[in-house]
Amino acid sequence: MLHVTKSFLPDLKEYVKYLEKIWDSHHLTNDGPFVKELEYKLGEFLEVENFIFVSNGTIALQLAIKGLDLKGNVLTTPFSYCATTNVLIWEGCKPIFVDIDPISLTVNSQQIKSLTELNSISGILTTHVYGNCGDLEEQEIISNQLGIPLIYDGAHAFGVKYRGKSIFNYGTVSTCSFHATKVFHTIEGGAVMTNDHKLAEKIRGIRSFGHKNDDYFDIGINGKNSEFHAAMGLVNFDNFSTIKKHREISSSIYDTLLKDPIIKYKYNSELDRNFSYYPIMFTSEDLLLQVTEKLNNYQIYPRRYFYPSLNNLPTVTGNVCLNSEDISKRILCLPLSADITEGDITKISTIIMSSL
Ligand SMILES: Cc1ncc(COP(=O)(O)O)c(C=O)c1O
Repeated sequence: MLHVTKSFLPDLKEYVKYLEKIWDSHHLTNDGPFVKELEYKLGEFLEVENFIFVSNGTIALQLAIKGLDLKGNVLTTPFSYCATTNVLIWEGCKPIFVDIDPISLTVNSQQIKSLTELNSISGILTTHVYGNCGDLEEQEIISNQLGIPLIYDGAHAFGVKYRGKSIFNYGTVSTCSFHATKVFHTIEGGAVMTNDHKLAEKIRGIRSFGHKNDDYFDIGINGKNSEFHAAMGLVNFDNFSTIKKHREISSSIYDTLLKDPIIKYKYNSELDRNFSYYPIMFTSEDLLLQVTEKLNNYQIYPRRYFYPSLNNLPTVTGNVCLNSEDISKRILCLPLSADITEGDITKISTIIMSSL
């Protein structure tokens, strides 16, 4: 059975070494030594001045929205996981969907400029979908001109660089998810990253209930993560470059075997990728459904990621976004993992090509 993703598990002995230290210290959570070590190492690796480890990628977004005090209308992408929209609504904001660029599938500066409601916007929250990105510098210019913060949901973008610089250095705040299905994971986990020290201090405070000892300074939440999760992160981080290499090779095998009429997803040429997903597009939804059924017959389970377009979620009242609605019906993520074999990829590709 092959699923769209398979969580990486490190050598158990490596993890147990950390568990033994946790047993010795009896420090299970609340800013323990492994959380601090992980924050230091990932902050360095991702080239950000403030790296705040949190319990998941959803709470990371909530903390960013709360930290920036976003209210009212927020521009956002319709092509992402539902968490990107949900957090806005959960935090009392109104998502205003900006349609995506049909190539990058991200929101670009041109799409933002075309909006008429720009005066009423309090912030922008978009996604580096599949670890890809659009014109980040131009988006920063718009956010500066409008005087509003720019949040990037970088759940898929661990380790990605754009124009030689960590992608998490763009925008006011970036978040990441370290969920078990991600290219780097801590089982459950996530991060908020920013180079704004004042904002980072506020987010650190509200991550931990909004109080320090007897000083209650804000209305916070529990967004902390534990020593067990941090330990998994430390072990997995040691394996990240090997995992990334394997995924890169696997992606290039797909590239070779999949041909017309499969439409391959194009990444920004100035990107140092992390190979987190392998999305393909079909010429029609019917074809996507036909191929999916055939793959399912062989116990291969790709995923309609992302479907439906978020502006069409039954729980959301969203404005029309034609590109996103069209593409979300025709896009499918194929299995990709740290141990997928060349044989698996050949089998998947052969089934796809023979069913077209
Ligand atoms: C784009 C995007 N944003 C946010 C999230 C939420 O992350 P988490 O599952 O860590 O809460 C996900 C999870 O898959 C995601 O894909």
